[in-house]
Amino acid sequence: MSERETWATRAGFILAAVGSAVGLGNIWQFPFKTAQFGGASFLVVYLIAVFGIGLPAILAEFVIGRRAKLNAISAFGRLGHGKWRFVGALGLLTGFWILSYYSVVGGWVIRYIWGSLQGAYFSDPTAYFGAISTGVDAVALHAVFMFLVVVIVALGIKDGIEKATKVMVPSIIIIMLGLAAYGATLSGATAGYDYFLSPDFGALMANLGEIVPFAVGQAFFSLSLGMGAMITYASYINRDDSLVADGSTIVVLNTFVGVLAGFVVFPLLFAQGIDPNTSGPGAVFVSVAGAFANIPAGRIVGLVFFLVVLIAALSSAISLLEVVVSYVIDNHDVGRAPTAAAIGVSLFVLGLPSALDTAWLGWFDTLAYQLLLPVSVLLVLLFVGWVLGGEALSEVLKGTGLGNGFGLTWLWMVRVVVVIAVLGTLWLGIQTLFLGPEPAIVPPL
Ligand code: TRP
Repeated sequence: MSERETWATRAGFILAAVGSAVGLGNIWQFPFKTAQFGGASFLVVYLIAVFGIGLPAILAEFVIGRRAKLNAISAFGRLGHGKWRFVGALGLLTGFWILSYYSVVGGWVIRYIWGSLQGAYFSDPTAYFGAISTGVDAVALHAVFMFLVVVIVALGIKDGIEKATKVMVPSIIIIMLGLAAYGATLSGATAGYDYFLSPDFGALMANLGEIVPFAVGQAFFSLSLGMGAMITYASYINRDDSLVADGSTIVVLNTFVGVLAGFVVFPLLFAQGIDPNTSGPGAVFVSVAGAFANIPAGRIVGLVFFLVVLIAALSSAISLLEVVVSYVIDNHDVGRAPTAAAIGVSLFVLGLPSALDTAWLGWFDTLAYQLLLPVSVLLVLLFVGWVLGGEALSEVLKGTGLGNGFGLTWLWMVRVVVVIAVLGTLWLGIQTLFLGPEPAIVPPL
């Protein structure tokens, strides 16, 4: 086995982690859920969820990764708790599962980039989405997206992921700022901001039982927790920098991009009088794309918009693939590039049902979101809190200058508060999966 790589710089690690976090979750999901669940008042709940639950949990994954300096499965063995390797294995499986359909959505985004240039979806966005979201187009572009992900991961940590995300993350932020500024010039923009940010405590209170688990689940998905991505990325750190500072930076930037996405999407929709309350995996493609048809320079704005979504999706997808690749190359005498390619091919195959039928895509997503992710996060928390315990505490305090009081607060958050929040989320998830009027767990055939 060759020498294990490390990040060239601390900023490189932070940007890669932000690249992993900022993805389709931020741009598609986040603004719409905020608007639907009470606007500004939902933001408050979400911020509590990300800082109170997401941040302690991301630190837990960082602790495992930096301490073990190994992939997400073998890490448990190196820390002296080989029995817990199954947790890493579950994470790996989850990542594999998610990437298979994430790549199909990535393929749609590629299709929309040139669809924007041609104005192909301008006359009938719904029919266009229906035509390209499944079948030959979807399969071919799923392959293209997966190919791009494989190439970056094959190049390795310093030359692939770090260099790519160093360009990608700043471009995401700059382009989104530009699009938000453009949105502000449209007439009707104010109505969009109102919809996104006006506090609606009624909507918040009426749906609290749904909102809290959603806010927690979204915090996990958006921060790329629960499948070893953050364990793996932290395993390439070789320094005593403060994990707390890095983790907070990542959480703040991730939330910032989600909010920024709202500032891009809602002025566009409201300027065109489009109802943002549509549902289903394709809703946003249809509604946001529909807005580009009539605005000034719609083709260019559409192109830029889908380009930034593609960059965000790619920088997340590489973290999902890296988890699996890093496990294989840590444990077998095989090269990074052939490994990435072979896994890419299997992921392509696993993604085929999703590329052929969006109902399958929805099913894959529901299972990941409601079951696989929360279970993996829960197990990681129990491991760090109750098994590593004091060892985790000293790792999290390293380089922070913070006292034991902070460390103990974190540890007990991980041990109790966060665990309870995840259990609640999981319980509600299982109810919708198995006990709802139409159990989502039944595969669509
Ligand atoms: N966080 C990404 C997003 O918001 C998706 C993602 C990447 C992810 N890696 C992950 C989600 C690991 C869960 C686990 O789109």
